[in-house]
Amino acid sequence: MKLERAEWRDALAVLNETFKIWSPGLSKTDYYFYIASQLAHPWARKNYRYMVYRDRSAIAGSLKVYGIDLASRGYRYRAAGLGAVYTSEAYRGKGFGAKLMESVIRLARDEGFDAAYLFSDIDPTFYARFGFRQMGSGEFWIRLPDSTADPSVLESIGGKEGWEILAPDVMPVEFKHIPQLERHHRQWLRRQPYGVDRSPSYWNYKLSRELFLYEHSRWAWPRLELITHQIDSFAGGYAIVEHGQQVLRALEVVGSAEVRRQLWSKLIALAVFRGCTRIRGWEPLAPDSLGKIKLTPRSWGVPMLLPFRKQLEPLVEVEPCPLLELDHL
Ligand SMILES: CC(C)(COP(=O)(O)OP(=O)(O)OC[C@H]1O[C@@H](n2cnc3c(N)ncnc32)[C@H](O)[C@@H]1OP(=O)(O)O)[C@@H](O)C(=O)NCCC(=O)NCCS
Repeated sequence: MKLERAEWRDALAVLNETFKIWSPGLSKTDYYFYIASQLAHPWARKNYRYMVYRDRSAIAGSLKVYGIDLASRGYRYRAAGLGAVYTSEAYRGKGFGAKLMESVIRLARDEGFDAAYLFSDIDPTFYARFGFRQMGSGEFWIRLPDSTADPSVLESIGGKEGWEILAPDVMPVEFKHIPQLERHHRQWLRRQPYGVDRSPSYWNYKLSRELFLYEHSRWAWPRLELITHQIDSFAGGYAIVEHGQQVLRALEVVGSAEVRRQLWSKLIALAVFRGCTRIRGWEPLAPDSLGKIKLTPRSWGVPMLLPFRKQLEPLVEVEPCPLLELDHL
């Protein structure tokens, strides 16, 4: 039994099964195309492998292995990001998932990666037995008064005029924004204990995926939106949000402490103007300006790290865990 790079026909056999659990509102053809276009992306050609685990000729399991650059206090590390860990239905409960994990950890060590990490959507004890350690996975919900039920709420933030002031700073995220996003993220990352070092090509890969879902999902998949805040022609920051029903989901709020404070006021105003009653986000986004915000544990996307080098061990304890939602694998 061995772990090897999937041929497209192998990937298709797996996708035929995983369609049931991981196609976010896509038709089967679109789901195949979604994965095929990811694999063909210039960033992915260098940093993404779809691997299968064979039992003779049959495919017993599969997973994605990404090469991700982590930056931490002036050092760069190469981490193996693992995603879509999967045992084919006929092979479940027979130890193949465990063998798949052991094989990929061996592969990552042999290839010289500094660590492996993943985001668990299942009980993390499955990954803990292979040495993966859970990092912070809190999320927060901010409740807002319902402006659709009570018009005075809108008035309290400046009514129509308030919106006119805010509107130019809110726009759909587009590829043309990448240089600006990359620059602000890079500056912000320097002040973080660690994080994913994002190249323009990585940004392009991430946005392509999101845009594909927005354009093809049969669910009401929200488009990523950008909120900007500029101090001068160089300094500033951004927030990336998704608006679905009455919830505004904050994916990133990036900038200096002052810029983040400004971005949060814009974010809250946007949510109120849109009639949202809640804002949610992962733990590193919690705004200081609102005092101590209560975190609740997430049941999905729990980051877990398996350091292969001593220098990376302290990252497990960092609070809040600075990994952002857009870096989910
Ligand atoms: C999770 C998954 C890969 C496990 O594969 P598997 O081949 O059945 O796992 P194994 O037979 O090697 O099980 C190893 C151990 O993990 C445990 N385990 C299996 N699935 C688990 C789950 N969902 N959560 C926690 N533990 C799990 C088993 O009970 C077993 O424990 P034991 O040795 O004490 O009996 C498989 O159930 C799967 O493909 N699920 C659907 C896709 C998915 O959710 N992937 C995870 C994404 S983060």
